[in-house]
Amino acid sequence: MTASIAFNILRESSPVVSVGILTADLLSLGSELALLERSGVQVAHVDVMDGCFCPMMTVGPPLIKALKTPLLKDVHLMIDEPLNKVADYVAAGADMITIHPEACSHVHRVLQQMRMMKNANNPDRGLVRGVALNPGTPLEVLEPLLDELELILLLAVNPGWGGQRFIASTIGRVEKAMRMTADSGREILLGVDGGITRDNIADVAALGVDMIVTGSAVFDGKAAEENAQFMLEAARKGFRSSADLRF
Ligand code: DX5
Ligand code: ZN
Repeated sequence: MTASIAFNILRESSPVVSVGILTADLLSLGSELALLERSGVQVAHVDVMDGCFCPMMTVGPPLIKALKTPLLKDVHLMIDEPLNKVADYVAAGADMITIHPEACSHVHRVLQQMRMMKNANNPDRGLVRGVALNPGTPLEVLEPLLDELELILLLAVNPGWGGQRFIASTIGRVEKAMRMTADSGREILLGVDGGITRDNIADVAALGVDMIVTGSAVFDGKAAEENAQFMLEAARKGFRSSADLRF
């Protein structure tokens, strides 16, 4: 299968920084998005929580539709049973949709279903299908799914809130996931979500991941544009610093 435009943007810009926008000032979301665009960020991460899989409840398709931005919309569905819900997120303009097998009885079917869907922003852009894993979920759950996904997102915190501390065992899980995807022979992007700060982003990027999600380190109530630039630059430096080891 040829890679989609959205997939190629992510792969060619690796490591991309996907910024969690729910930690922004929600009443000024338009200007918050504009400053991310100015900073060079290419992806906006939206944490959708349903009050069931996660105790908190956040946003749904109408908010995603309301985001007017050239940034790729990276929708992280932390919701129970997404089978009959993903179509609404795609219709709302998601470019990337990540689901949790812990919350889904038919994870393979949802991924198959998404393969048939068209990107509502631009049908040629394609959809990036992701599977996210909580820190306590064995990576083996991914094995039967590797033919039906483009992105693995490893959570480095338990889902629920921004601003939590990075769980160190994520590093070993990143390395293991990389071996799994290399063995599969498929091109699959790998991302890490949660607990990323100014202090650890370069180390995480140095593992060779394609996408790093960060929320509260950018929207900390101070200089969000400068924070985003810092995170982008640190991610690129970390990635480059280990390139000799990886290739
Ligand atoms: C955790 C979410 C993360 C988180 C990121 O439930 O999936 O996206 O909000 O926020 P920070 O970067 O503050 O950990
Ligand atoms: Zn997330």
